[in-house]
Amino acid sequence: MPEISKKQHAVLITGASGGFGLEYARQIEPQGYRLILHGRDKPRLQMTLDSLKHPERHSLLLADLNMKDGISTLLEALKDETLVGLVNNAGFGIWGSFEKTGIVPQIDVIKTDLKAPIEIAHALLPVLLKNNGFIINVSSLAGEAPLPYMSTYAAAKAGLTFWSEALRTELAGKLRVVTLAPGPSPTGFREVSGMPPGPGSFFRTPIPLIVAASLATLHSGGGFCVPGWRHKLLFTLQKITPRAIALQLMKNHLQP
Ligand SMILES: NC(=O)c1ccc[n+]([C@@H]2O[C@H](COP(=O)([O-])OP(=O)(O)OC[C@H]3O[C@@H](n4cnc5c(N)ncnc54)[C@H](OP(=O)(O)O)[C@@H]3O)[C@@H](O)[C@H]2O)c1
Repeated sequence: MPEISKKQHAVLITGASGGFGLEYARQIEPQGYRLILHGRDKPRLQMTLDSLKHPERHSLLLADLNMKDGISTLLEALKDETLVGLVNNAGFGIWGSFEKTGIVPQIDVIKTDLKAPIEIAHALLPVLLKNNGFIINVSSLAGEAPLPYMSTYAAAKAGLTFWSEALRTELAGKLRVVTLAPGPSPTGFREVSGMPPGPGSFFRTPIPLIVAASLATLHSGGGFCVPGWRHKLLFTLQKITPRAIALQLMKNHLQP
């Protein structure tokens, strides 16, 4: 763990109202940073805050990343902060046939999962560089292979992984960047996507393990992180399975 020199140094966690974002708050707080917990759902964000050891040290930031002024609202609220870290975690997917799903939610996936992290990182880069900071981009193994019936989500995460990995390489030696690519995990993601509850995937990996793996990657200087052996196994299978076979398998698995 790095020494924290200034207690007022802040870390922004987007999508902190549950799932990975809540766990990032729990695991980053002991490092002494002030946390800025972003989301849309105020009562659930408040629950994240209340679960922390020093709620009085942290603050909430409400902004809908899909709304026209969502990102500018978020950036305006951050203008006086001494930011040292950005966890680009907010995101969601939608499950269903592309043909039968409206275009607005499809574009919202692109806005929240791809456009927002890029735009937020670009705006905050000067302060993050000045403070010798870090960025964690929460992407997904969904970005490693096309996904029938979650096509737009996979496209957004593929874009996020490519951008994050290129950024990490551009900024090597200047800023630590982590690209986190988890597989299935027990968060609110499935319910939000509209997928009915299932028996649970063999590849499901506990949230604390995933977040801890990404923070270990950060503390070793940044990198591409596939957390835990089950997600590593899934990643390997994605790499060795011929695309035509993988597409058919995923079609059978995800077909409504
Ligand atoms: N769970 C998985 O299986 C899995 C696997 C790989 C990657 N991921 C990625 O992990 C990240 C976190 O998701 P999660 O799994 O923890 O799911 P989650 O429990 O549903 O949390 C998603 C978070 O994103 C926020 N969010 C969604 N849309 C937003 C918007 N338009 N504006 C602002 N905030 C928004 C939500 O805020 P509100 O609740 O306040 O609206 C919530 O805090 C996502 O990027 C997801 O793609 C998840």
